[in-house]
Amino acid sequence: MSIRAVYPGSFDPVTNGHIDLIQRSSALFDQVVVAILRNTEKVPLFSVEERTEMLEEATRGLKNVSVTSFAGLLVDYVEQLKASVIIRGIRAVSDYEYELQMALMNRRLSNRVETVFMLPAESYSFLSSKLVKEIAALGGAIHGFVPADVESRLSRKFHLK
Ligand code: PNS
Repeated sequence: MSIRAVYPGSFDPVTNGHIDLIQRSSALFDQVVVAILRNTEKVPLFSVEERTEMLEEATRGLKNVSVTSFAGLLVDYVEQLKASVIIRGIRAVSDYEYELQMALMNRRLSNRVETVFMLPAESYSFLSSKLVKEIAALGGAIHGFVPADVESRLSRKFHLK
């Protein structure tokens, strides 16, 4: 049986923590579809097209990983892709409450879809897209938090280079 997993998120922008999780998932599942949420209420820093480019660049070496975007309910998209797993990363206990609520709600919406929680390397447990953007906007060093391509895109966004 071939298992297709969907890794959904905002990825605004992708961090090395996300990439660590994609690599771990790619070793565990037959196919991994990274799914960027389109209809977010938050105003993103990067467009869906820019986020897709950054994720494609970062996952180029992983043959069973593809990058897409979606709008609407996640479980509908997962079923549309004929996938059976949603991957979510848990960095710390603080993530757990929100993730548990979302996983149980998604299970209520579709009992054909299972959520799998994965842990990124502990060195990324403090990392988030939000903090990376804040640090970059204030001129701080983000080297090692995001891929080099994302680092230069952030510098350009904030006119630091
Ligand atoms: O990276 P994020 O912002 O934490 O990802 C959140 C995401 C995209 C997984 C979540 O907002 C989502 O699934 N949105 C799609 C709409 C949906 O299905 N909502 C019901 C969730 S129980």
